[in-house]
Amino acid sequence: MNGWKLTYHDFVPKQELLRETLTTLGNGYIGTRGAACETGPSDIHYPGTYIAGVYNALPTKIAGKTIYNEDFVNCPNWLVFRYKIDDGPWFHYFEAIILDYKLELDMHNGVLSKHFRFQDTKGRITSITHQRIVSMADPHLMAFVYTFRPENYAGKITIFTGLDGQVVNGGVERYKQLNNKHLVPVDVGKFGEDGIYLRSKTTHSKIKISEAMRTFAYKDHKRFFPELNLVQFGRHSCMHELVLDVQKNHRYSVEKIVAVYTSKDQGITDDLQEAIQKAGQAHSFSQLYDNHKQKWKKLWSLFDIELDGDDFFQKVLRLHTFHLLQTASCHNQSIDAGMPARGLHGEAYRGHIFWDELFILPFYDIRAPEISRALLMYRYRRLGAAKKYAAQHGYKGAMYPWQSASTGDETTQIMHLNPLSGNWGPDYSANQRHVSAAIAYNVWKYYYASADDQFLQDYGAEMIIEIAHFWSSISEYNTKTGRYDISGVMGPDEFHEKYPDSKEGGLKNNAYTNVMAVWVIEKALFILDHLLSPKKRKVLLSKAGINQQELERWHDITKKMTIVIDENGIISQFEGYMDLEELDWDYYKEKNNNIHRIDRILKAEKKSPDYYKVSKQADVLMLFYMLREETLEHIFEKLGYQFDPSIFEKNFDYYYPRTSHGSTLSLVVHSYVCSIFKHKSNTLKLFKEAMESDIYDTQGGTTCEGIHTGVMAGTIDVFLRVFAGLEILHDKIGLNPDLPESWKAVRFQICHKNVRFKIAIDSKCLKIEAKPKSKTEETPSGIPVQIKHSTYQLVPEKLYTFSL
Ligand code: BGC
Repeated sequence: MNGWKLTYHDFVPKQELLRETLTTLGNGYIGTRGAACETGPSDIHYPGTYIAGVYNALPTKIAGKTIYNEDFVNCPNWLVFRYKIDDGPWFHYFEAIILDYKLELDMHNGVLSKHFRFQDTKGRITSITHQRIVSMADPHLMAFVYTFRPENYAGKITIFTGLDGQVVNGGVERYKQLNNKHLVPVDVGKFGEDGIYLRSKTTHSKIKISEAMRTFAYKDHKRFFPELNLVQFGRHSCMHELVLDVQKNHRYSVEKIVAVYTSKDQGITDDLQEAIQKAGQAHSFSQLYDNHKQKWKKLWSLFDIELDGDDFFQKVLRLHTFHLLQTASCHNQSIDAGMPARGLHGEAYRGHIFWDELFILPFYDIRAPEISRALLMYRYRRLGAAKKYAAQHGYKGAMYPWQSASTGDETTQIMHLNPLSGNWGPDYSANQRHVSAAIAYNVWKYYYASADDQFLQDYGAEMIIEIAHFWSSISEYNTKTGRYDISGVMGPDEFHEKYPDSKEGGLKNNAYTNVMAVWVIEKALFILDHLLSPKKRKVLLSKAGINQQELERWHDITKKMTIVIDENGIISQFEGYMDLEELDWDYYKEKNNNIHRIDRILKAEKKSPDYYKVSKQADVLMLFYMLREETLEHIFEKLGYQFDPSIFEKNFDYYYPRTSHGSTLSLVVHSYVCSIFKHKSNTLKLFKEAMESDIYDTQGGTTCEGIHTGVMAGTIDVFLRVFAGLEILHDKIGLNPDLPESWKAVRFQICHKNVRFKIAIDSKCLKIEAKPKSKTEETPSGIPVQIKHSTYQLVPEKLYTFSL
């Protein structure tokens, strides 16, 4: 099956950590890295299991200060499976001769398989097959099967299979100086004939985590019942020990079924009892696998993008879709968790939730909007914390934290380590107040695509209004210019934290922040005036403490916010940016293999990127990624600035050469922006670089610590927006395809306001069929679509073909 499999035919120690991330299995509730089950953590392997929303904060003394970090807890390792033949050594990849090797992720069925043969020092050859799933059908279940076939011997294989709670958070090198022991043991024991369990608790958040495991054995596919001895290591870990009498060329399989619950789970009384009960009900790996496959089939029918003509893009589109669905899926509706920037795949950024959701939610909005809604509810539940955060800084309304984890409090670290210099320095990135605009934007986009008015009325409107209130309160009227300024903030470009030589973090009039502040305020005013009943409007305004005078200020801000633009139409990233020095890019490129993180290079040289025109990622250009031309034109003109369409190309030409793409999000944005002014070859080049970023770990090590969910979703979004020309308009979708010549055809489905569209595009024609999700009395007789700028009314469930 083309494009469904990620296959590795060799065991390459240096690549293992990356492969483990890329072969992680998950279901939105839990994720387990594709680590080898036969060995523990080392420089080559890092078994990590993470549960959405399970965080713990620990203090560490760094550079004389006690700092707290809220980490994404590495939960007990359920993979442990060790064995030896007769009295030989425990199997280890380095101590055996590996004869054949194949690791394969089958994304269609959500299964990870490994097949290898090894020869030990006594010449015994064993063939191994291993399959693993994390159930998409039941989020609490995980399972694997491990099969031995002795090729040239008979003997005894002793196996330890179990649950290990003696794990720490050790997956990210630069966090290693921080305290990392998040779990304390609670209990271990056995249940039934073939079950063992382990219960642990996080030290600070006091979340109990229970894993219950059952062991089944088969000889040539027929179940048998070897003796299972419980081996305990204190209350930290427990194993089943079993000994198989193996004969030449027969197959012996050991299955492991594991159920996981935590005390955070909804609708349960006791996590351990639930886990034991769930594991007790499971019959076999194959039964779980069948249900799991069915669920994946259903998901793929909604989410798959088929692309004929480019095998690499086809595979990566699926890889990105697969990992996104493993990070947030249908199960998120009963979980209180946001979308971690690095998935359930590793410990980078500590499982925190950033503005990256801006790139991610469109992926769900137009396919399974209920998942977007679940992610937005994570933010709504933390609206109180955002209001408190704003108040602590002397602002009104809701200011969301740059990094969010369990409570919605700010979890951005206050010190960070430069791995090049080994120095800890202050971290000002929490000044990225633009995250609040991203949340308002996500609410609006979700509403726009889903028509979920109930959500807007009950939650969304309140969030947008509270965020608008914050933007108004952070804006200061400048009597000299007659305009409003926003100071003390950082834009998306994290290299610029402060003005050169300043002792305080923050910059003035970051263009992206200011324009988005206006956008949010305008949306809030629109919602208040047009989408709420007078009663609801009154209730929300009074809850937020907003009076008529404040609303007048909002109107004023939409006419007078500052954007600094020079005489050539270049929007200044922030006030004062144009006075910074130019960086000698050629010098640094020549001296370093990779200058993505030029900030670290400069800091290691005791310089600072604050002095230079050097950006980590798109900042000004973000405006062009997010807002349609008409919207930008409207905002600029209302503010009294000139807007002409050449602004896209001019600003791209200015900022692109001054950007190091230290965040791969940057590639996604630049690729899209090029498409606006029809720079086809650059669009495709940058899109390809973004597509390569995780699968090839082009940033040199970051993917080993977790996937980049923002880029994964951003590439899928850009694919549809650029190449299928998809636009989500208020009352319809628009399609204006522009496929690269080598692509033969693209097929996908999307959902817009409760109508599902099946779309197929090739170089000659576009086929489309619209099907309302449910037939109600309101089902329209004609469903509008815009194809190449003309609007047509589609009769539901009729296939239409349009020539291109
Ligand atoms: C980027 C941020 C992003 C964060 C998490 C950083 O490297 O600069 O924009 O939010 O990673 O993905």
